[in-house]
Amino acid sequence: SASQMTVAVVGTGYVGLTTGVALAYLGHHIIAIDKDPRKIELLSKYQSPIHEKGLQELLTTARSKITVTPDYEPAAEADVIIIAVGTPPKQNGEADTRFVEAAARDIASVLKADRDYVVVVKSTVPIGSNRRVASVIEKVLAERGVVTRVTFASNPEFLREGMALHDTLYPDRIVIGSEKDQAISTLRKMYQPLLEQTFDAPSFLPRPASFPLPPLITTDPTSAEMIKYAANAFLAVKISFINEVAGLCEKVGADVLEVARGMGLDSRIGPKFLQAGLGWGGSCFPKDTQALQAIAGEYGYTLPIIHASREVNARQRVLVLEKLQSALKVLRGRTITVLGMAFKPGTDDVRDSPGMELMQVLLERGVHVRGHDPIAIENARNMLADMDIKWCEDVEESMKEADAILIATDWPEYKHLPWNDLVKHMKTPVIVDARNILSHYDFDGNVNYIGVGR
Ligand code: UDX
Repeated sequence: SASQMTVAVVGTGYVGLTTGVALAYLGHHIIAIDKDPRKIELLSKYQSPIHEKGLQELLTTARSKITVTPDYEPAAEADVIIIAVGTPPKQNGEADTRFVEAAARDIASVLKADRDYVVVVKSTVPIGSNRRVASVIEKVLAERGVVTRVTFASNPEFLREGMALHDTLYPDRIVIGSEKDQAISTLRKMYQPLLEQTFDAPSFLPRPASFPLPPLITTDPTSAEMIKYAANAFLAVKISFINEVAGLCEKVGADVLEVARGMGLDSRIGPKFLQAGLGWGGSCFPKDTQALQAIAGEYGYTLPIIHASREVNARQRVLVLEKLQSALKVLRGRTITVLGMAFKPGTDDVRDSPGMELMQVLLERGVHVRGHDPIAIENARNMLADMDIKWCEDVEESMKEADAILIATDWPEYKHLPWNDLVKHMKTPVIVDARNILSHYDFDGNVNYIGVGR
């Protein structure tokens, strides 16, 4: 069709790969650029290097539209170049934009004269990075003596791990921050199939029932950069808020699930992100709230609400540990099975996972620790390679002769285990359900079932 474009995506991590594969599915020609030879090797065979629902299927479906390369040269043929490289935290919590700037330089070194390019920053970057990318690219072009037309845009993503493709194909909104009409109109065209939902939904990723067309928010680059951080920080605050309330529910004898339900039905509040439990982890909320604090610090400003959300989140892990402690009294020498290494269900990502952190604390306390996860065991094992943890492939086996079970991730498969049979094989029937996936009604009388906030 007329709106087919050539789009280069720099960086094939979660964000870049998902974006690239989705855009290929929508009909654009994608040039996927990555320096990592392992990713290039896998992607050249159209094998997804990450576990993400529907990604392998969509990659296979759209393969004829995707070119994979470690070189930047092919990007010179693109209409749009999307920077989606990582921005890991620096020592001081600031996001490190080294890879973004390197990508900008590499892009600028291949652009051709007398063409129109739109360079898009999709990586989550500190405020002002859009301008920085623009100046890096303009400088390199000037050094090369290449005169061409490049416009810039910030285009943050809001995708959740495990739901990355779903969120990309069916977004709540698309945000484009740019000072240039040229960039906005090109990206509007690129996203047209999403904005109007004119594509055939893949069978394995059906369009949600009554899905409203996503609005396009066009704004200035700085506001676009801020939208991303503010949205993530708000969600982190929302979770910490319900966790704070959960602690009080325990004191007064209320049930936080009932409280969250009653609150969530207020349309101004909404039911999502009100699940009390072990708090947030993963590669976004911890990093982004910290980066936002670093940004505020640069301007001599403080973020007391976001600061408190981080403190509540850290305390939540301690409170769960105390539940184990008060049920078992002495922890040393006990056997505790931790169910769930992934920071949330649907992913094999164990970065900043509350369950993984608790495992390490339990080890330090002299506990014999066992770990189970439906898909993240391999990553967990690699991360805690030198630690004395018993990794279990079989969930039922993992509970035998245990003194306590700690449910750290709300995997649906944990909900449907034959719990009353399993507890019979434990040494002591203590279940600390740090995600509230079960309730004491699921158990016979003599099981010590402990949830959060109930
Ligand atoms: C998040 C944002 O949702 C996404 O928009 C952004 O682009 C990246 O960060 P993600 O980190 O993949 O996505 O996971 P999300 O599903 O948002 O969950 C984050 C954490 O909060 C998880 O550890 C989860 O277990 C926890 N959580 C979530 C709760 O404890 N309670 C809730 O009610 C919801």
